[in-house]
Amino acid sequence: MTSFEADIRPLFREKDRNAMLRHFDLWSADDVRRNAERIYGALDRGVMPCDGAWTAADKDLLRRWIDEGAQP
Ligand code: HEM
Repeated sequence: MTSFEADIRPLFREKDRNAMLRHFDLWSADDVRRNAERIYGALDRGVMPCDGAWTAADKDLLRRWIDEGAQP
């Protein structure tokens, strides 16, 4: 089972968190869960982060975390 603290939070850099704080806190499991589909959608389309797309493996990990119920 994937967890936010162990698997997902480390994928978000401090610059990602700072860039997006006006919308949500990428270091908060609650915020990422609440905005999960928007966040996944931007990553999947490759429009975010603004300085380079995630790998397929990292996107798959986020997808699995969401599908497993977005555990803290
Ligand atoms: C993993 C990292 C990131 C994720 C998941 C992410 C996610 C998102 C999402 C979901 C939106 C759409 C917000 C909405 O629905 O209104 C957005 C907008 C935006 N993001 Fe990111 N972002 C990330 C990193 C960054 C970085 C590194 C930058 C560069 C400075 C950035 C700059 C922006 C900008 C300029 C917008 C336009 C919306 C606004 O700020 O009003 N993001 N991002």
